[in-house]
Amino acid sequence: MDKKFPESFLWGASTSAYQVEGAAYEDGKKASQQDIINKENYEKLGFANADIASDHYHHFKEDVTLMKEMGFTAYRFSISWSRVFPNGTGEVNEKGIQFYRDLINELKSNNIEPIVTLYHYDLPWALVEKYNGWIDRQVVKDFEYYARYVINEFKDQVKYWTTINEQSIIVQYIAQKNYIPKEYRGNDQIRYQINHHMNLAHAVACKLVHELVPSGMVGAALGYAPVYPLTSKPEDVMAAQNAHDLRNAYYLDIYFKGMYTKSAMIYLEEHGLAPVIEEGDMELIKEGYSDFLALNYYASECAKACPIESGKEIRYGGVNLSGKKGEMSGFETHPGFYEMTHNPNLDTTDWDWAIDPTGLEYIFRDIYTRYNKPLMITENGLGAFDTLTEDGKIHDEYRIEYLREHIKAMKRAMDYGVEVLAYCPWSALDLVSTSNGVKKRYGFIYVDRTDDDPKECKRIRKDSFYWYKDVIASNGEELD
Ligand code: BG6
Repeated sequence: MDKKFPESFLWGASTSAYQVEGAAYEDGKKASQQDIINKENYEKLGFANADIASDHYHHFKEDVTLMKEMGFTAYRFSISWSRVFPNGTGEVNEKGIQFYRDLINELKSNNIEPIVTLYHYDLPWALVEKYNGWIDRQVVKDFEYYARYVINEFKDQVKYWTTINEQSIIVQYIAQKNYIPKEYRGNDQIRYQINHHMNLAHAVACKLVHELVPSGMVGAALGYAPVYPLTSKPEDVMAAQNAHDLRNAYYLDIYFKGMYTKSAMIYLEEHGLAPVIEEGDMELIKEGYSDFLALNYYASECAKACPIESGKEIRYGGVNLSGKKGEMSGFETHPGFYEMTHNPNLDTTDWDWAIDPTGLEYIFRDIYTRYNKPLMITENGLGAFDTLTEDGKIHDEYRIEYLREHIKAMKRAMDYGVEVLAYCPWSALDLVSTSNGVKKRYGFIYVDRTDDDPKECKRIRKDSFYWYKDVIASNGEELD
């Protein structure tokens, strides 16, 4: 089809606060749970901690200049709760909020639309110490306090708000995305309890945007993967349906229908995993409706039947820590419901994530047909070992290839009527990966540091930087 991207289409990229900012203890900021988790990761696994990250806190003007040079019309980033409220609640940290005022002003004066995420894994550590963080319902009240302040502060400059980043991934990788106190480790019910509290927080934030930002739009940023059946055997197809219900619909139905997906909830109840829901919770969730959905798409997934008789136990997603293909530590398993597995039809990244542009087209079509709400991409990208060559360049044609095919897939979905507002892949610049340190890179802008040595965090344009610049300048026409 010979349709064009709409003139209003937003092109940009994304980051999150703790993964780029650094300055973890500067200008009044106190620790977030990610500062603690990443410190432990450095000690155990040698992955860079978040103390300096990409030092965006000190380089933000240079970074925005580079974004402008690429032609960005949008930039999705998150606000660090513990930079604004170092103790989680109480007195605002003036210098902390000033950083975001400066960043947003810099973006606006360069005609780059800020897309703000309120929460990206970095709960103030003070709240973990006080009441175990997201495990306790009090967090919803404290989140409301923080979100009200931030939304009110930027209501005149920020139109697009995303609430909580990737609840579905938080449930899968609970200890990586959340600090779990010792007495709760191994307790799988808290995955769903934390998620329920996040649903309430999400609804609160949606209501606040509707109340405070008249022309604003709000939605969650959801980590989402289509689930294919391993074979066309009916039991594998049913397993894929079960996996879809528990991994995808369980979140989407909350955001758009204000209800929990029945089949998933019944499965959770049968296994003692269901969240405790209090009176009024579901009403609040209904009131906090979403205007759009931000999608973080990297890979598709594959499921097969897992009969009870297999004798397997419930387990959650595995991770590849080495970056050597095939070293994934295991797959999510729910005996009697489904078991995730490797898809033999797809190539993978070095960290075993299936590369599947068609999966993006598929989810766009599927979600839009089911819920009929505008969508945007707030993450999509290829984690890779990049090499800084002797000529001072980074020849990342593999990343260009990945992004090109995903943009084409997005366009095919748009040609069939799906309303897509923005494409903001991961990531604007290299940053600390949530699972693999800084050696796994995603950025258009190379940040010269290693896991052990932050050096000067010098910025270098990758080949993908120049490629993306042409893509944006041609409004998506010039992809090759
Ligand atoms: C998403 C997160 O899950 O995937 C990002 O929102 C993250 O924070 C990205 O960085 C890629 O995952 P990883 O583990 O490779 O950093």
